[in-house]
Amino acid sequence: MEHKKTYYFAPMEGITTWNYRLAHAKVYGPLSKYFIPFLEPHEKRDFKTRELKEILPEHNEGIYAVPQILTNRADGFLRLARALKSFGYEEINLNLGCPSRTVAAKGKGSGFLEKPGELDHFLEEIFAGTDLKISIKTRIGKDRPEEFERLLEIYNKYPLEELIVHPRLQTDHYKGEPRRQVYQEARAKSQNPLCYNGDLFTRQHIKAFFEQFPKEDCLMIGRGLLMDPGLLCEDNSREKFREFHECLLAAYVEQDLGDTNVLFKMKELWAYQIHQFPGREKDAKKLRKVQRLSEYMQVVEELLSSDGSA
Ligand SMILES: Cc1cc2nc3c(=O)[nH]c(=O)nc-3n(C[C@H](O)[C@H](O)[C@H](O)COP(=O)(O)O)c2cc1C
Repeated sequence: MEHKKTYYFAPMEGITTWNYRLAHAKVYGPLSKYFIPFLEPHEKRDFKTRELKEILPEHNEGIYAVPQILTNRADGFLRLARALKSFGYEEINLNLGCPSRTVAAKGKGSGFLEKPGELDHFLEEIFAGTDLKISIKTRIGKDRPEEFERLLEIYNKYPLEELIVHPRLQTDHYKGEPRRQVYQEARAKSQNPLCYNGDLFTRQHIKAFFEQFPKEDCLMIGRGLLMDPGLLCEDNSREKFREFHECLLAAYVEQDLGDTNVLFKMKELWAYQIHQFPGREKDAKKLRKVQRLSEYMQVVEELLSSDGSA
């Protein structure tokens, strides 16, 4: 029997902003969940202005949004969890995946995986301290894939909403292939629901994944959706992409960020989106150089009206 598949939009700091999430949901229909890029606890206030904009319920209307927390301090996590609950959130995600060296060096993100005893204690405290649903997004270890066995035993002690696994080590960053045999280990041993994340960039990749793991039913996708926001949508025409682009650009312009900031945001996206336009890499270069919104629109129009497969 064909299993029903569930898809989540991965959190991507600076890119999957509330404007992006809403534009995606509006044009391509909402995915099951949209993860909000990480929030960190602060000493003096719960949220910075930029963070507040991300989590406001009116900025996440019509989608199931899951805020993510990056910390190794249970008190900070719980404080932030309470604040998020007061905004109506029922579920939060813990970031145990961020590979950034500065983050990991502070024992946060995938750096926390190096200290399983402390992690266990942290989880004990947060599960005792909140009734919110908690999911975890994790890498498989810091330096060695063998670390995952112990981590999995720890995760198994807690009633996670789900365990999202990006089967790379902190030291892998984004290099090499995801270690899918380690994911299989999680499949065999996890007591918690699982979701796979990593390097599914095209429909072919997704198809091949399900051929390899027919029983998997939940995928989180990040860069693949940045490259092709219609990746999971039946109608993935050039027109749809045009609509998405217009919707997102209008949303950023409406934010009054100033043209430079709007252009920065849009240019960052094109590093991914250009993959939909094989042979047009030159336009990506042009886009990187434009200084004005009018020039930007012109180059984008050339791209959108060019031939080639969408
Ligand atoms: C620019 C960028 C920003 C990211 N920001 C976050 C983040 O805030 N929180 C997080 O858990 N993962 C973050 N990630 C990791 C992604 O959520 C995802 O796990 C990773 O890209 C692998 O999935 P993919 O191969 O489908 O892209 C980020 C990745 C990228 C490329």
